[in-house]
Amino acid sequence: MPWEKSSRLKSLPPYLFSEIDKKKKALFAAGKDVINLGVGDPDQPTPKFIRDAMREAIDNPTFHRYPLDEGLPEYREAIARYYKRRWNVTLDPATEIYPVIGSKEAVFHFPLSVVNPGEAVLIPEPGYPPYRSGTVFADATPVLMPLRKENGFLPDLGAVDKKLLSKARLMWVNYPNNPTGAVASKQWMQDAVNFAQKHGLIFASDSAYCETYYEEPPTCVFQLDGGKDCGIEFHSLSKTFNMTGWRIGWAAGNKDLIAALAAIKSNADSGQFMALQKASAVALDQGDEESKKIREMYKRRRDTFVGAMQKAGLQAEKMPATFYQWTPVPGKRTSVEFITLLLEKANVVTTPGNGFGPSGEGYFRVALTQTEERIREACERIAKAI
Ligand SMILES: Cc1ncc(COP(=O)(O)O)c(C=O)c1O
Repeated sequence: MPWEKSSRLKSLPPYLFSEIDKKKKALFAAGKDVINLGVGDPDQPTPKFIRDAMREAIDNPTFHRYPLDEGLPEYREAIARYYKRRWNVTLDPATEIYPVIGSKEAVFHFPLSVVNPGEAVLIPEPGYPPYRSGTVFADATPVLMPLRKENGFLPDLGAVDKKLLSKARLMWVNYPNNPTGAVASKQWMQDAVNFAQKHGLIFASDSAYCETYYEEPPTCVFQLDGGKDCGIEFHSLSKTFNMTGWRIGWAAGNKDLIAALAAIKSNADSGQFMALQKASAVALDQGDEESKKIREMYKRRRDTFVGAMQKAGLQAEKMPATFYQWTPVPGKRTSVEFITLLLEKANVVTTPGNGFGPSGEGYFRVALTQTEERIREACERIAKAI
């Protein structure tokens, strides 16, 4: 039967890096000692107390059935306690918190619940790809907001095209930021919420890296004036507790926005395994010490990487948050040319900045998801290769 890809699928940007992927695969196939600093996937195991909680939960037969639509009360209550302890924010576990199957699916699905075809969504660029694909799949128009070094990798809200702004329904904000490692001050976040309110936008804050910071802890939207009127946050246990493979997170915020997300999700999935929700409640209630240790580990790795790169003559700067380092490409090479050189000459995998959007050209991203020793070795090889 003849068929074609849907227009939605066709309207996604083309995949630019198949050549690089081929080179990577060839190196692995040839048995080379490749150091992978490409993916934001923690190398360390999930802490033992969480694995133990999962083992215990799995033996409870009530968790073997379809999950409750609104999520396990113990998990939602643990999230509410976390907000109280962490930001002194009070949320109603029944209506203002909703479990998700990793924050990626929720980020992707959310526009379907609040944006109409032909409307627009403001998206940071360079940025996490599902902001864009979720918008395109909702038949809406992505409006890119460049993140530039001279603005501290914050979008210039005053520069958004007025015509497109009038069509916009939703604005994505992501601090601590992937890929730049930047943070936003409380004042900037307040200004951004004010901007959202003034223009009738939903303020969607992706907080996946909110526990990976090295200076001031990041702001929570619900600490801000008007934050609960227009705001929704997307959280993840993936990076905080080395749980990327477990697929769990949550959305929190304005109860009407949560209800809209829940309505889309109840059509698309049947919730997350309740044993995992139970183990995640234990992670949130008992995990502050562990997430601090993980944070300190990434800080040491960051300092090792930046110190070595500065010695090698790169303009590397210690980014204040996330386990990413966003560094200008030295000399006149493009991002792709530079990361190809690192791949071929140093057998080190990194990501070209333009993979996250056109404003990322001239940068490369390193994920500090290898041990300090391997990072040191990667830096030595890079220094020799450039
Ligand atoms: C900015 C950002 N948001 C959300 C996610 C999704 O995390 P998860 O789906 O594992 O919760 C990621 C993952 O890399 C990310 O970088």
